[in-house]
Amino acid sequence: SVVDVSAFQTAGYWTYDPGFKVTAPVESEITYIDGDKGELLHRGYPIDQLAENAEYLEVCYALLHGDLPNAEQKEDFYKKVREHTGVHDQLRKFFEGFRRDAHPMAIMVGVVGALSAFYHDNLDVTDEKQREITAIRLISKMPTIAAMSYKYTKGEPFMYPRNDFSYAENFLYMMFATPADTDYKVDPVLVRAMDKIFTLHADHEQNASTSTVRLTASTGANPYACIAAGIVALWGPSHGGANEAVLQMLDEIGTVENVDEFMEKVKRKEVKLMGFGHRVYKNFDPRAKVMKETCDEVLGALGINDPKLELAMKLEKIALEDEYFVKRNLYPNVDFYSGIILKAIGIPTSMFTVIFALARTSGWISHLLEMHSAPFKIGRPRQLYTGETKRDFVKVEDRK
Ligand code: ACO
Repeated sequence: SVVDVSAFQTAGYWTYDPGFKVTAPVESEITYIDGDKGELLHRGYPIDQLAENAEYLEVCYALLHGDLPNAEQKEDFYKKVREHTGVHDQLRKFFEGFRRDAHPMAIMVGVVGALSAFYHDNLDVTDEKQREITAIRLISKMPTIAAMSYKYTKGEPFMYPRNDFSYAENFLYMMFATPADTDYKVDPVLVRAMDKIFTLHADHEQNASTSTVRLTASTGANPYACIAAGIVALWGPSHGGANEAVLQMLDEIGTVENVDEFMEKVKRKEVKLMGFGHRVYKNFDPRAKVMKETCDEVLGALGINDPKLELAMKLEKIALEDEYFVKRNLYPNVDFYSGIILKAIGIPTSMFTVIFALARTSGWISHLLEMHSAPFKIGRPRQLYTGETKRDFVKVEDRK
């Protein structure tokens, strides 16, 4: 049930809600989550159906436009996305300012933020054409910028986008092809898995990064800079950075023999079980279910018998049976399995959150444009002041 507290302001009240556990600052038509049922719908379509039957770009279209595209709309949208995959030559020079050992997320923050310097004339997000080109540019350029961030840290030349390839295939090509191997063929099983991973990360209503994008955009800031703000918020290990942290945790545990001892540390609250728990899902994360199936498919197709998977299964089993975890509704979330698939595809751990950012860009820009399509207020929370009461100034020589 919803209580509308908008009249509180005139009555001199405000609500205190750390972590926004029970506060909805917006109305939105994009994504619906029922945390108790473990249900996630984009524009009404269940996530498992989208992951199984739709391509990521069709999901992007639905997030942006309200429904899946018909055949003509799909062709037109795909064509536009292909036309904008390149980045300005001067943007390429931006990468050289970073150290080679920079985290690719740090590079993404800088380079995506820099897009605001290239497209600063395109700020009227109430104009239909400008709304469209902003979304297209971001969705098109993200795989290019993400792959460039990786190539730069590897010290390898950038690969130009292949616009005759699908969205996911082009991304994997730019990641793994080299000038000496431009005939590099991407395994179709991996292309499908990558596309599914993009779909499963496309949007998730008012999570920390999307709320950051909305809050930043509520000031009227440049939309590309707002997306950079979203990337920053995503980076933290409590949010998108969890996929990288899961693999680090599995490395730290090492072998199945050490799992029990690790779980005791979790119970003593010395460490968190990364990839478990969710603010909204208190039954199961429907994305994790699809991700687990995809994980089995990919590992099966590649003939990989990863001991990390065995380790992950043991963690999952204990968490689902042990009273400590059951009582706190700690189920695997989307990030628990995605790392294992990404590792099998050959993606280095430092790129996991970058891939999340690439995929979530469609959600971020959809929310930003939704906000700008109707009158909105600047986001400005209040606080519960716990500091000193009013007191008189003391000269420095009189201070104790
Ligand atoms: N490991 C161990 N204990 C946990 C975990 C965890 N991952 N998550 C929550 N708990 C415990 C808390 O210690 C707390 O226990 P208590 O009641 O004894 O004090 C209880 O469960 C409730 O936890 P909260 O912190 O209130 O839950 P909240 O909704 O604020 O946190 C969050 C959600 C941030 C996702 C948390 O579960 C977490 O940090 N998980 C690990 C990081 C992770 O996987 N993040 C990805 C989330 S999905 C995404 O962003 C795509």
